[in-house]
Amino acid sequence: MAATLIDGKAIAREIREGLKARCAALAARGVTPGLAVVLVGEDAASQIYVRNKERACKATGIRSVAVRLPADTTQEALEDKIRALNDDATVDGILVQLPLPAGLDERRVLALIRPEKDVDGFHVQSMGALVTGAAGFLSCTPKGCLELIRRTGVPLAGKEAVVVGRSNIVGKPMALLLLRENATVTVCHSRTADLAAHTRRADILVAAVGRPGMITGDMIKPGAVVIDVGINRLEDGRVVGDVDFASAEPVAGFLTPVPGGVGPMTIAMLLENTLESAEKRA
Ligand code: GUN
Repeated sequence: MAATLIDGKAIAREIREGLKARCAALAARGVTPGLAVVLVGEDAASQIYVRNKERACKATGIRSVAVRLPADTTQEALEDKIRALNDDATVDGILVQLPLPAGLDERRVLALIRPEKDVDGFHVQSMGALVTGAAGFLSCTPKGCLELIRRTGVPLAGKEAVVVGRSNIVGKPMALLLLRENATVTVCHSRTADLAAHTRRADILVAAVGRPGMITGDMIKPGAVVIDVGINRLEDGRVVGDVDFASAEPVAGFLTPVPGGVGPMTIAMLLENTLESAEKRA
């Protein structure tokens, strides 16, 4: 039987409608949520991501503060900008689009963002909160993936979850989130011996490696929930995930399409985090 597709686009739309109402309630109390989006340099993909985030803010009722800096911006100038945004009471969230141009110290920049405004969840304090179970912002893509898994109705406790990829942005926080939900979690990566032996055990499989179609149907346990975080642009212009859709679809129980799966959820979670921050301010 073919997998049930998880419609991230529709779920994100529904979530964003709810956020719009919460935004309007805040506005009635005289508070407009604000998100500062910092983009350094001219990276083409980053420009598209940032534009989409800013559009989503406007559509929801969040004021977006665009901060565009040239590729040759110094570390000091960028840090000064972050400090100013930290001190700006009308800014509830600060997002620094990654990757930063070569020569800029990403770790130092992220560490400077006040954790109360760290709506991307990349600050070591936010990551540490996730590790220890304390309150803090969850990074948007893993948070969105968890919401998609929840919506399948498949319980996570006691299940085998396998995350392929160990990035700070997706793989590591995703694994921690699944652990928090009482799944038994395995993290695989580029040096994993016999990847398929692991993925075939997975009741929940999250692919976040950035390699088009690398998870094929024969690597999937029949009936598994498969979450595809990959957004890979092929030479012919097509955008595909890390999961080979054609071979995965007849095997998986639930599957996210690309595009229209995880992508729209990342933005919805960013808006949600920003709104939560503004609600705390209000
Ligand atoms: N670059 C790739 N993904 C992301 C993301 O979720 N947030 C930021 N800030 N940069 C990214």
